Amino acid sequence: MSLPLTVEILDDGQALKITDKDGKQQRFHAIWLRDNALDEETRSATNGQRLITLSDIPANTSLRSARLNANKDIAIEFEPDGKQVSFPANWLHRHAYDGTGNARETGWLPSLTETWDETLAPNVPAGDFKEVSKNRNALGAWLAAIRRHGFAKLENCPVESGGLIKVAELFGYVRETNYGKWFEVRTEVNPVNLAYTGLGLQAHTDNPYRDPVPTMQILYCLENTAEGGDSMVVDGFRVAERLQSEMPEGFAMLANYCARFEYAGDKGIRLTSKRPMIELAPDGELTGIRFNNRSCAPITDVPYEAMAGYYAAYRKFCEIVDDPAMAVAFKLQPGECFIVDNTRVLHARKGYSGEGNRWLQGCYPDKDGLYSTLATIEHELGAF
Ligand code: FE2
Repeated sequence: MSLPLTVEILDDGQALKITDKDGKQQRFHAIWLRDNALDEETRSATNGQRLITLSDIPANTSLRSARLNANKDIAIEFEPDGKQVSFPANWLHRHAYDGTGNARETGWLPSLTETWDETLAPNVPAGDFKEVSKNRNALGAWLAAIRRHGFAKLENCPVESGGLIKVAELFGYVRETNYGKWFEVRTEVNPVNLAYTGLGLQAHTDNPYRDPVPTMQILYCLENTAEGGDSMVVDGFRVAERLQSEMPEGFAMLANYCARFEYAGDKGIRLTSKRPMIELAPDGELTGIRFNNRSCAPITDVPYEAMAGYYAAYRKFCEIVDDPAMAVAFKLQPGECFIVDNTRVLHARKGYSGEGNRWLQGCYPDKDGLYSTLATIEHELGAF
């Protein structure tokens, strides 16, 4: 939308309509404008936090007048309290909601994401530890790639135990769990979890038995002389897209019914959750994938009449996950790691022989910190 040309009050002051020189229109409700006023009595000048509650605004708030100033700010006076505020036109444009939801189909993707399959393999998103450590632009580009694809590699990291925490500290904070601040992933004589053996693993998201689940995971290589043991990633959002296209009723099954997940492999630990394998926001946005054959508990929240259909959908989802055309594989070298959005991208490991050593460490940084750092860098660069 270009700069506003006219402003008009609608519905006896219930709303404001802005028309730009191209004829494009956006409407804003009076109550919305009052609640989002930018003046210092409504918003803190220091931290931007709102200083009033909705109860401080009269329920019968309406617009008494609205005019376009010479500087293209829009000046407004409210009824019944006579409060006067103004909004920069570009602020209103950035926060416009008129038309939100138009042409959106259930399962629409979060903004700035892009789904992928095996064809991404020649262009695996990657950064260089030394570069992203000292250069904010490089860090922003690496984090933006993680937001877009849900995963990225990082190379030239320190080959030292615990080095993965230095990676997490580039953008945020690690969530500590019963596995510790970080955990070892290598062969053990007496494994408590199949991830610690030499078997291949089906692509999965980690720890769906937690609520909330770990939102990001770093897997960090310290040693990898074993035969095989390549890492693989699969885009759960692309899997969901394919399921929706190839079996729409199956997509609805996995989104509308909850699965159950559990883990009780360690003494003193009994983790359980009840959540869908495909998670949608109330407006239909695809927000999360949970998929882990090892920790799927008996499913008891699907009615008898729907269970056969649910299992058909689950099987179809499995088949798509296992389709080699969906996977991007790479072998991590010491000093390399990859990070996945654990609410979206599934990871897997091919089997390895046990000759030689494979030693990885893993940890769970939180996604909110990553997105906060990315947003800060983009703000510094004037992108948003
Ligand atoms: Fe895992």
